[in-house]
Amino acid sequence: MWLIKENGFDKEHIIHRGNQFIIGHMKLGVRGTLDEFRRAEKVAITLPFVYDQVGDGWREPVNAFNPLFSEVIIDGKPLNVLNGHVISHEQTLDMKNAVMSRRSVIQRGDYQVTIESSRFVSSVDERLIISKFQVSIDKDIKIVIKTGIDIDIWDINGKHIEDVKLSEKGYLKVEGVTHEKGHLITCLKEITPLFENSKVKIEKNNDGIFYGIEIDAKKNHVYKFESFAVIGVDQENDDLENKLSEVLHEGYHKRLEKHSQIWNQKWDVSNVIIKGDDAADVALRYSIYHLLLLAPQSNSQSIPARGISGQTYKGAVFWDTEIFMLPFYLNTDLVSAKRIILYRIQGLPGAKQKAKSYGFKGAFYAWESQEDGFDACTDYNVTDVFTKRLIRTYFKDKQVHISGDIVYAMKMYIDRTKDFSILKDGALEVILEVARFYLDYGHYSILKNRFEIWDVMGPDEYHERVHNNAFTNQLVKMVFESVLDYEEYFESENDSYFNDMVEKLSYHHELELINKYKDLVYIKEIEDSLVIEQFDGYFNHKDINKDELFKLKLHEHEYLGGQGLAGDTQIIKQADVISMLYLFKEKYSKEVIKNNWEYYEPRTEHGSTLSASMYALTSCMISHPDHAYPLFMKSATVDLTGKSKHFAGGIYIGGTHPAASGGAYMTAIFGFSGLSFNQGIKVNPKLPQSFENISYTVRDKGKLYKVNVDRNESKIMEEKD
Ligand code: BGC
Repeated sequence: MWLIKENGFDKEHIIHRGNQFIIGHMKLGVRGTLDEFRRAEKVAITLPFVYDQVGDGWREPVNAFNPLFSEVIIDGKPLNVLNGHVISHEQTLDMKNAVMSRRSVIQRGDYQVTIESSRFVSSVDERLIISKFQVSIDKDIKIVIKTGIDIDIWDINGKHIEDVKLSEKGYLKVEGVTHEKGHLITCLKEITPLFENSKVKIEKNNDGIFYGIEIDAKKNHVYKFESFAVIGVDQENDDLENKLSEVLHEGYHKRLEKHSQIWNQKWDVSNVIIKGDDAADVALRYSIYHLLLLAPQSNSQSIPARGISGQTYKGAVFWDTEIFMLPFYLNTDLVSAKRIILYRIQGLPGAKQKAKSYGFKGAFYAWESQEDGFDACTDYNVTDVFTKRLIRTYFKDKQVHISGDIVYAMKMYIDRTKDFSILKDGALEVILEVARFYLDYGHYSILKNRFEIWDVMGPDEYHERVHNNAFTNQLVKMVFESVLDYEEYFESENDSYFNDMVEKLSYHHELELINKYKDLVYIKEIEDSLVIEQFDGYFNHKDINKDELFKLKLHEHEYLGGQGLAGDTQIIKQADVISMLYLFKEKYSKEVIKNNWEYYEPRTEHGSTLSASMYALTSCMISHPDHAYPLFMKSATVDLTGKSKHFAGGIYIGGTHPAASGGAYMTAIFGFSGLSFNQGIKVNPKLPQSFENISYTVRDKGKLYKVNVDRNESKIMEEKD
């Protein structure tokens, strides 16, 4: 099943469909809005990793001009799904080829208009949007097709492109510069054929530049054109005209063929087939579709938390990428996996700068990372829905686990690929600087003879400024151990690189401390109940029922964390101890995992889409795949159903959720099929009742394997690459 289809039109679903039907790649995100839609319907042609800030507003990725705008005008008035009577409407995403299409039949007065269009963003590394558009009417009537480049852009925090110039040079052209860094953004568009027997006028106004094609339409005749648009940023602009004429020459279908070939190759190594449960099969494929869209395209790219779906979350990279998405790329696409690591290596100067700004040594990575590791996170991330005042949040300054998450990812990359060269490419320096940061941030308690980490925020963001968060402390221990493991590795290789780095970074004292503290990092006790306390004093918080707490809310979007309703209770936003148990599974027994699952799940809001998959994965580990199943489906379908938080404390946080997509993939592969690599490639299936079989391809240490997991029998076969 390769098609995602929605029938019927409902204004309430416009924003969600924009996310659901997204196409593009890491250089260009095109929301799945309709041809006639504009700013109000949240059309966005997003340029990931091209950021801009206006005034004191949030720094966010730039939305480019929209060359997909087309509408039909009859009797002097546009006729579209927003103002006509919609007889039928169908929107489709062909995941196999990454093509979005729509077909709408709209009635006005005594005539019906049928509008059809399809679009794709060329998967070759370029910013090229190709589409086709057609219209037919069941009456002889004069129509105007208006198509062009819309410049009235949806921006969340300010107008990012200024000095906009419109021109017509045998094609339509718009250019402008970004406010902060003066990036030149250009968009060219041309359509073919330019209709014979029609009058074409050029319209230029505050909305953009358009062709107005006047046609004496004949009853049921189909009027169609193909549209080609290229978008350039800075030096890419030099070649735009050539690019446009090249694709004009090739046409829609030829270009689609090339694009599809690339997509088919991607699917060859990443598709997962679930037999017995069609809903799970398609939802998982949809999750993988998102991960394929988001493969980084250069060494200075990683994956933003809202993918390429717009400006939400400032287009920034969070821990989501390392912990929830990297495992997919490690199994299917090592080039992208390496880029995710290289992005953080490039971010080291930013991380050192951030640590310094708080008076610490070492590397404290950005909570919301933009280019060069710049932290876009502010001290006030949510608004009080009652007073409209900003609320102080501590994501940026206290969520110190981010640095450890990055080291965890580096270790995971090296363990899986045995590509130790990444250490010399900068990963070792990152690990050393992160360890230096933790040495400085934490402290050794003489009284307790242990290394403690105070004043942090764990993944559960509702409890602020806590001491000894179990998740964070495990990561700190892992970072210290990694330093010593890699010291040993270089020693065993007779390679002086480690010692040279110690010299270069004046690291002798740190190395001594790491040796001293690595076994003294305070790892939270397993209580008699086998439950691990999330942080010091958590068990003293009010133990209120989740539903009871939600009933106390006075506003649906009120912020629950910090001073909010959840702050002094045991209700947590998302998996915290449970995430720790998954990441450090080798250290804990099944019994411990089970008891913690049973304790924490009823106390978890799952207020972040990162939460469900951690519970699903751990549920498989304790042989409860049927408890995992609804959580897996929740992760896999979040962008299909649109059932996620769209607002947090008054701030719009909608968009796609690639960490949930990655979590769904992890649950299917590592949870249900029980894939592991520790002692060679192996499976230990925990199939939910509805699954008959799951099969997929996976890479490990230079080899490609076909894995087939059945209820009775599993096979792992090496494949030719
Ligand atoms: C979650 C974070 C996550 C961020 C981006 C927040 O709501 O609490 O853990 O990194 O969203 O997805």
